[in-house]
Formats: sequence, C-alpha cells, structure tokens
Amino acid sequence: MTTGYAVAHLPCQAKQSNFRWRMNHGWIAVHSNLRLQGGSVMHTSPSHEYIMEDAREAHRLADKVDAPSWVRTYLAPLCGAGARILDVGCGPGTVAAGLASSFTTSSVVGIDQSSRRLLVAKDAALALPNVDFVGGDAMALPFPSNTFDVVYARFLLEYLMQPQTAVNEMARVCRPGGAILLQDLDGQTILHYPPDPELDTQINNALAGLAQTRFDPLVGRKLFYFASAARLTVEKTDIETYHLIAGRVAEREREQWELKLDIALPALTRTLGSRSAAVGFKKQFLEYLDRDDTLSWSQIFTVIARK
Ligand SMILES: C[S@@+](CC[C@H](N)C(=O)[O-])C[C@H]1O[C@@H](n2cnc3c(N)ncnc32)[C@H](O)[C@@H]1O
Repeated sequence: MTTGYAVAHLPCQAKQSNFRWRMNHGWIAVHSNLRLQGGSVMHTSPSHEYIMEDAREAHRLADKVDAPSWVRTYLAPLCGAGARILDVGCGPGTVAAGLASSFTTSSVVGIDQSSRRLLVAKDAALALPNVDFVGGDAMALPFPSNTFDVVYARFLLEYLMQPQTAVNEMARVCRPGGAILLQDLDGQTILHYPPDPELDTQINNALAGLAQTRFDPLVGRKLFYFASAARLTVEKTDIETYHLIAGRVAEREREQWELKLDIALPALTRTLGSRSAAVGFKKQFLEYLDRDDTLSWSQIFTVIARK
C-alpha cells in the first residue's frame, strides 16, 4: 500500500506554497495556504472569520464525537478498499483519524482553514500513515477535479459565507460516481418550549448579529437543495435528533453548552454590543436549560449523494 505523507513529515516541501501530495494513484499538486516553519505551523489568510475560533475549540470538537461509531454509521457504507477520502472542515481530525484507522487501505485527507486545529489533528494522527492534513479553504479546494472517491463535510456548512460554493467544490473534486456526504445541524438554540420572551429576544438579536458572518442555524434543511444545485444525484436524506434536553440538563451536557457559549463570547460580545450583555445571555441560556419544565432540541440532517 502506498500511503500519503502528513504535512508534518515534509517540512522542506511544505515550506513551498505548492507541495505535492502522494496518494495511492500517484502524486498530485496541493496548493495550500498552510506553511510549516521551524516545526510549527503558520496559517495564512483564512477565508473568513470562524466564530468559534479559540484554543479550546479543538478539544471541544474532539470531545463531541464518537468517531468509530460515526464512521461505522455514515462512512463505512460508502468507502470501498483503497478509497481516496476527503474530510472538508476536518477540525481536530477526530473523524478523519478514526476513518484512517478503520480503513487502513484507504488514504484520507483532512482540510481545514485553522492551523490551530490542524496541529492538534496532526499530533493525534502521527501513528497513522494513511492520513494527511492540509490547510485550505472549503470554498476553493486546492485539489484537482475528480480526485476523491468519497468527500464529506460534517458541521462545516453552517459557518460558511458561501455554502453552495463549498458543495460545488466538493462535487468538483469527487470523481464521477463517487459519494458526497453532507451533514449539518438545524435549529440549534432556536428550538425550545415554552417560549421565554426575554431569552428569545436575546437569541434573535444574537443570531441576527451572527448572520453577518453568515452563521446559519437552519442550514441542515438546506443540504438537499445544495446537493441538487451542485447537480448531484441525492441517494438518501435523513433527519435525526441531535440534542434533546427534557427537563433539567445533565451536568456533562451543561458543561459542553457552557464551553460552547464561552468560546462564542467574543462573537456574542460583538453582536450584542457589550461583554456584559454576552455574559448575561449565556447566563440566561443556561438557566433555561436548568429548568425542570423546559424542552430544548436540535436536529441533524444528512444527505448522501453521487456525482
Ligand atoms: C464545527 S467544526 C467541525 C469540525 C469537524 N468536521 C467535526 O465534525 O468535528 C467546523 C470546522 O470548519 C472549519 N472551517 C470553517 N470555515 C472554513 C473554511 N472556509 N474552509 C475550511 N475550513 C473551515 C473550522 O476551522 C472548524 O474547524
């Protein structure tokens, strides 16, 4: 089996803006905006602000996914032996690494615009010879057309300025007949009962402000349309419950929400006008989850399509 080289193993090549990446089917040129300098990664010009940018975000994301189970459920049916697989917006690489360790004859590439999370990804995958991580923009993927057998994006599109462009790019780099999986959330922070007028006003204000970054809490329902508009043939569309809190939130889930809101505080401060308003919003949100009589939920949409 021929394996790819992680960027971390190729400091000389990676210092150039274009480096070659070796896959089962030979070398391809990768035009990356990730540079390695003296053993550390420098990331240049992310395409836009990621509202959850924070040193704690890699750990938060890794903590939120059971990678072996996710791979078994969603990707295993799509990945044949020797498959070339691309994870777009891979974050800390938890899923990509889980995939590479389950499918050892496959070559997996994770791409993300965050050097912080790519460093964590590369560290975690050092022992895996068949996974590479590169820096780049989902809306301008640095790969030739028809390169991959499977291309997927999990929880990426909700953050993008132009999600349709990213899906078009995923379709472009997928080979004809290859599979594309889109998965994203719908209704986060919005779906709850009973209404709480004060909290709901805060949520609306926060989401209206975040909409300027194009953060879209209702992106899940749009995935089918994005795939269709990219001229893909949709084979499966599914909705599942993502989070469901009935009554007082469990301690671990509360901690996860608290961390998420803490990481989002700078973006919330900008959208709500002051840090005290952002902290007040966080407090009110958590208090709602702490109530015995409230229900709060979100959904996860999955679309599987063929090129
Ligand atoms: C919510 S995280 C999801 C990470 C991973 N897919 C997972 O399921 O845990 C979204 C990731 O998308 C990345 N991202 C945001 N905008 C991007 C862009 N334009 N190009 C590439 N990655 C991007 C962020 O840096 C972040 O790591």
